[in-house]
Amino acid sequence: MTKKICTWFDANQVGAIRFEHNTVWACCYRSIPLISNIMDFSKISVSEIIQKRNELYEGINNQTRHECDGCQNLCMKNEAEINLNKINSLILLPFTTCNLRCKYCYLSKEQLGSKMQVHKVLPIIENLKKQNFVTDNFELCLGGGEPLLLDDLPETAQYMQKNFVNPTFKIMSNFTISSKVNELINTLKDLKGICRKTYTSIDCGTPESYKKIRGSNLFYTLIDNLYNAASSGAFDIIELKYLLLEDGSNLSDEDIFGFLDIVKFISKNSKATIWVTIDADYGENRIDADENKKDSLTNKPISDEMLNAAAKIYYVVTNYLNATIWWSGGRITDATVQGKKDINRIISAGNEYINKPKTNSETFYLSRYCNVTQQNQPAAKNVNKLFSIVNEERHKVITILGLKIKFRRQG
Ligand SMILES: C[S@@+](CC[C@H](N)C(=O)[O-])C[C@H]1O[C@@H](n2cnc3c(N)ncnc32)[C@H](O)[C@@H]1O
Ligand code: SF4
Repeated sequence: MTKKICTWFDANQVGAIRFEHNTVWACCYRSIPLISNIMDFSKISVSEIIQKRNELYEGINNQTRHECDGCQNLCMKNEAEINLNKINSLILLPFTTCNLRCKYCYLSKEQLGSKMQVHKVLPIIENLKKQNFVTDNFELCLGGGEPLLLDDLPETAQYMQKNFVNPTFKIMSNFTISSKVNELINTLKDLKGICRKTYTSIDCGTPESYKKIRGSNLFYTLIDNLYNAASSGAFDIIELKYLLLEDGSNLSDEDIFGFLDIVKFISKNSKATIWVTIDADYGENRIDADENKKDSLTNKPISDEMLNAAAKIYYVVTNYLNATIWWSGGRITDATVQGKKDINRIISAGNEYINKPKTNSETFYLSRYCNVTQQNQPAAKNVNKLFSIVNEERHKVITILGLKIKFRRQG
């Protein structure tokens, strides 16, 4: 018999769960608590989680529960192939404390400044493993607050490497606490048979913007820490994120191309796979950390200014950098209808970007990647719609009336 199931509940599909703010949540998209007021995640009963998941699953199917109505993650599946008893992935955000005060952060100043209630995460993982809740190739995705404030990150990665088969250790961090970054690098660089991922929001391209947006002078510290992480071989995947801000404060060419320079620098100095994530802030939907997880995070399309900035990132990353665009954001995501539309808008604007007239600053910054010969002359801007020549690294691209012809460059 086929049943309606969320891909998040089913270990034969995504099979993930979120522990955040003293609560076990059904998923990452909506605020559906399974168990609340948890004093200690390391003592949690797996049979209770499974029971609560089953109640929601049955409720979805007999239509007595409506929290998941309309969600993109629901699908129909043969009942015999559904596994609610395990997880492949744990999103673990066990506290809200942070060393930074980013102006866009959905956490409140009180949450960011709160006293840390949890200092170790290894007991949480050990407890789930002991109760046989995690699959062999389990992924831990650690955030916060700032997870580098934890005391046992190296031990947790070592435990996972010893006790699972090809697990993944992922840290979502602001990467500014150098001593903790170095401690983690020293452990991770020698761990084999474990996928090591890091994910960090950069969101600007100059120290001045970093100070305004992230509230600190740690721009070059962040780059230095990322460089150390990249060059040491401690990570298999490095994900660099740009959160486009609704107030327009990080959409200038200095910021966009400054960020692209960082991506270039990190990818040149690393054997890791580099992912670039373009996302947008929740803006006025930033009510509180739990509310804004609803899949209606924002039904508002990103503005034309945000689209324009995203198109430049997409264009340069796709054509000139040793990196891949990765749509793993919270708002620009293929998990929501509006998110999917925005992804398509960015891809098509990114592909069209080279044919658009350029400002002087775009011409200047783009010259690091390609030679936009026609476009810095004001008179040529209109002509460019009909005709342009672009010297790429290996090709010369001539566009005539929208038709692109690529020639291999000599030498
Ligand atoms: C809350 S932070 C916690 C982990 C870590 N401190 C960090 O900054 O990566 C996790 C992610 O949330 C994102 N974030 C914070 N506030 C946001 C907002 N208002 N809209 C969209 N994403 C937001 C950040 O970009 C960051 O990547
Ligand atoms: S570093 Fe992360 S948790 Fe801290 S204030 Fe910034 S976005 Fe929020």
